[in-house]
Amino acid sequence: MLPAYIPNPLAAIFGGGKPIDGGRMMGDGRRILGDGKTYRGLLVGIFCGLLIGLLQIILISNGFAVFGITLPAFGISIAGSVTVILAMSCGSLFGDMFMSFFKRRMGMKRGAPLPVIDQLDFVLGAWLFTYLISPEWFTATFTLWILVTVLVITPMLHLVTNIIGYLIGVKKEPW
Ligand code: CTP
Ligand code: MG
Repeated sequence: MLPAYIPNPLAAIFGGGKPIDGGRMMGDGRRILGDGKTYRGLLVGIFCGLLIGLLQIILISNGFAVFGITLPAFGISIAGSVTVILAMSCGSLFGDMFMSFFKRRMGMKRGAPLPVIDQLDFVLGAWLFTYLISPEWFTATFTLWILVTVLVITPMLHLVTNIIGYLIGVKKEPW
C-alpha cells in the first residue's frame, strides 16, 4: 500500500500554490475543490508515490524480506509493475480530490473533518484505479483478509500521521 500511502502526506508537506480549481465556484456558490487541492501537491505526491514504488520494485526483485516474509510483487513484468504503482499513487490523490469535491457540495469548508471518508478516500481511489488498470493483479494480491486488514489499519495510520503533521506544522488540523 505504500505507493498509495505516501502521496497524501508528501502533498501536505510540499503542496500549496495554484489550486487545481483555479479558485472557481460551482453554481452553489462554493469552491469546486478548494485551496487544499493544488497542482504542486498533486504532482509532488504522485511523483513520491512513484519513487517509493520503484524502490519497492528494486527491493522485491532482489529478494528483500521482512522477518523472513517476502513482499508481494506489483506484477510479473517491470512495465506492468510500474503501471500498478502509478495507478496506486494517482488513484490515492484522485480519491482524495473526489471526496473534497463532495465535501464542498455538502457545504463543508476546506479542512472540515468528514470521519471515515477522510481516512479511507485515498485507499478506495487507489484500489479503484489499480483494479481498473490490472484486475488480475488486484484480485490475486488483495484477498478478502488483506482488504479488511488495510481498512482497519489505515485509519489508525492516518490519524497518527496527521497528528505528527499537525505538530510539525505542515497540517492545519490534526485530522
Ligand atoms: N494538498 C495539496 N494538493 C493536493 C492534496 C493535498 O496541496 N492535491 C495539501 C494541501 O496543503 C492540504 C494538505 O495537503 O491542505 C492536506 O490535505 P487534505 O487533508 O486532503 O486537505 P484539506 O486541507 O483538509 O482539504 P479538504 O477539506 O478538501 O480535504
Ligand atoms: Mg483534510
